[in-house]
Amino acid sequence: MGLDEAILARRSSRMFLPDKPVPRELLDKALALAMRAPSNSNTQPWHVFLATGQRRARLVDALLAAVDANPPAIGSAGLPPRFADRRRQSGALIYGAMGIERSDAEGRWNAQVRNWEFFHAPVAGVVCMHREFGNVDAVGVGMFLQTLLLALTERGIGSCVQVSIALYPDVLREQLGIPEELTILCGMSIGYADPQFAANNLDIPRNPVAEHVVFLDH
Ligand SMILES: Cc1cc2nc3c(=O)[nH]c(=O)nc-3n(C[C@H](O)[C@H](O)[C@H](O)COP(=O)(O)O)c2cc1C
Repeated sequence: MGLDEAILARRSSRMFLPDKPVPRELLDKALALAMRAPSNSNTQPWHVFLATGQRRARLVDALLAAVDANPPAIGSAGLPPRFADRRRQSGALIYGAMGIERSDAEGRWNAQVRNWEFFHAPVAGVVCMHREFGNVDAVGVGMFLQTLLLALTERGIGSCVQVSIALYPDVLREQLGIPEELTILCGMSIGYADPQFAANNLDIPRNPVAEHVVFLDH
């Protein structure tokens, strides 16, 4: 797969084949490629915890218990109101492909809860950076993540980056031994996407380049 193809083929998968493990050597290779990402002064600010097997299972159990005890607000929580429309648009496409009506609050909730099951992916990730790093270093973590996603895509492996996982930092720290000196940025599912799940084959549209890029020459 060429780079352009990998960029276009990558998408967020929201249902994985639970019984198809990701070979460790493929994961190692993708991670080694992601380490090539640029960062401010080569700080390499990313720090990733990857749980598989029983550790992953315990993490999911603890997250589901936390979601049950303390459910997050469903909807556009955390997004500035002026950008809430973007979430609504992608949400309509994703839930639509899952066959869930806008009025079906229970169906949406059940779909949302799958976040904390890492969508059944065999590899459950948590992405962190040192708490003394700032915005510019978070840019570096983003570079690492996209490089990782593309390297996984190239190997036929699916993924989904998930801010929803970071809503339960205490659970993540306890289950994965994440020290206080690391800020938790997001979670991440890694596995083989379930090809039967219609919402995995969505092509979420993007805005025209001109809405986001300004060329200036005099
Ligand atoms: C930082 C970040 C956080 C995200 N959080 C979630 C999440 O919590 N749950 C989810 O289902 N998707 C999440 N996504 C996936 C986005 O919804 C997705 O990237 C976007 O809709 C574009 O679709 P695509 O990745 O399939 O191209 C997240 C993506 C990023 C980069």
